[in-house]
Amino acid sequence: MEQTFAIIKPDGVANGLVGEIIKRIEEDGIRLAAMRLTRLDRRRAEGFYYVHRSKPFFSSLIDYMTSGPCLLMVLTAPDVINRWRELMGPTNPDEAPRGTIRGDMGLNIERNVVHGSDSPQSALYEINYFFRGTDIVV
Ligand code: RTP
Ligand code: MG
Repeated sequence: MEQTFAIIKPDGVANGLVGEIIKRIEEDGIRLAAMRLTRLDRRRAEGFYYVHRSKPFFSSLIDYMTSGPCLLMVLTAPDVINRWRELMGPTNPDEAPRGTIRGDMGLNIERNVVHGSDSPQSALYEINYFFRGTDIVV
């Protein structure tokens, strides 16, 4: 069994896509292990996206991620890191196939609806960045 960290980003929550996205997660056989609706402040968002701090899009990304509430989730299933990234599709919705969340619901390369950890190391870091062990159901 593997865990990953997922976010329904502020555009996804604001546009009423939470139900549809969780439906796709559950239909894929992935289980919810934790979830919390919250609005990130700048410090929290900057720490989360620390690896991107020197990218040209960083300050715009922080503006976006702090623009409204988002849904934080821990997902669990065998090979869930890859499976969740497959459900999301590529970063840029213009390049994401139909049937993927970003392909169907993403607005542009920044406002792309969802986040998913990209490795076991980042999953562990990201889960612990937002959740205590006692908040995760196993
Ligand atoms: P994420 O971390 O959110 O799951 O997305 P990702 O791995 O597919 O993409 P990543 O390269 O880690 O970028 C993180 C987020 O930054 C925004 N972004 N904007 N304007 C741009 O060129 C640009 N590139 C990336 C997106 O919101 C992306 O998900
Ligand atoms: Mg990433």
